[in-house]
Amino acid sequence: MPEFIPVCKVGDLPEMGKTVVEVEDRLVALFHVSGTFWAIDDVCTHDGGPLAEGKLEDHTIACPRHGAKFDIRTGKVLTMPATRDTVAHEVKVEGGEVFVKLNEQ
Ligand code: FES
Repeated sequence: MPEFIPVCKVGDLPEMGKTVVEVEDRLVALFHVSGTFWAIDDVCTHDGGPLAEGKLEDHTIACPRHGAKFDIRTGKVLTMPATRDTVAHEVKVEGGEVFVKLNEQ
C-alpha cells in the first residue's frame, strides 16, 4: 500500500515553483501554485518528455519536447500531441513538510 512520503519542505518550493522528486523509485513532478502543492508523473504520455522542465502557466504544464499540455491538478491531457492523461498523485502538507502518496496506475 502506498503511503505519504516526505519529499521537501514547504519553503523549498516557492509560489509557481516546480521540481522533480523521487517517490519510491518513481519520478514525480511537484508544483506549487496559489498556495497549493500538486504532483503528477514527470513523464509526458506522448513520448516521455520531462514535464517539470516545461512552462507552467496557472495550473497547466506544457511538455518541453513537443508542447502537449496537462492539468497539474488532475493529470488530464489538454492538448495534442499527447492523447492520454498522466497520473496525478495525492499531496498533503503537514508540519511545514510536503508529502506525496503515489497513485498506483
Ligand atoms: S514528449 Fe511531450 S509532447 Fe512529445
